[in-house]
Amino acid sequence: MSENAILTLEDIKKSYFVEGHRIDVLRGVNLELKEGERLSLTGKSGSGKSTLLNIMATLERPDSGKILLKGENPAKMPDSKLSMFRNREIGIVFQFHHLLPEFTAIENVAIPLMLTQSKKTSLEKAEKMLERVGLSHRMQHKPAELSGGEQQRVAIARALVTEPSLLLMDEPTGNLDNETGKMIIALILSVAEERNLTTLFVTHNQEFAAEMGRVIEMSEGVVRSI
Ligand SMILES: Nc1ncnc2c1ncn2[C@@H]1O[C@H](COP(=O)(O)OP(=O)(O)OP(=O)(O)O)[C@@H](O)[C@H]1O
Ligand SMILES: [Mg+2]
Repeated sequence: MSENAILTLEDIKKSYFVEGHRIDVLRGVNLELKEGERLSLTGKSGSGKSTLLNIMATLERPDSGKILLKGENPAKMPDSKLSMFRNREIGIVFQFHHLLPEFTAIENVAIPLMLTQSKKTSLEKAEKMLERVGLSHRMQHKPAELSGGEQQRVAIARALVTEPSLLLMDEPTGNLDNETGKMIIALILSVAEERNLTTLFVTHNQEFAAEMGRVIEMSEGVVRSI
């Protein structure tokens, strides 16, 4: 592992079994993300991008291989420590936004902070983050009362509010029109720059992919630089 690596994946393998059939999704992924690096992950539908992201996010365990995040091995942590570690170090934006429908935008953003901070501080920080993504005027709206792009910005604010070391995004622009997508990429890049935040995002859009410093592709169960 090189000195400024924030995340290292070594020979990560993952298979699923469905009705007696084995699908080898990850067949030995090796990857190193350096601190402050920004990269995009592309690859065909079904190639294993979300699976890899979930493993990086410590939400799923690989069948074999080793992960080191900031020098720590999540596989060796008990579940309670792992969820605290994930909450502190990793910001995640899912392919489908996963906002809590019964809570307002500001509450959705504040919830990850409430595990470790007072309600008042959490709401203040959530408010600042929503301002940052241009949603000051939508703080009291519930997810169903927001547009797709607004929901995605709430999800991004929620991922960033804890000031993670690593930001992982699974097609954050997937369901958005090109202009809104561009705005979201610009927003992510400016926050990433400001915080020297290591950022990986999955996209099918070549134009967005090219905005990141490095592009990698998932194909036949492995990752290659392109
Ligand atoms: N929980 C699961 N159980 C069984 N098979 C799964 C599971 N999750 C994913 N798969 C299979 O693993 C393969 C990779 O899925 P994954 O979601 O990682 O692809 P992807 O590259 O993110 O695709 P997309 O671009 O469509 O989002 C697919 O063939 C999928 O059917
Ligand atoms: Mg996916």
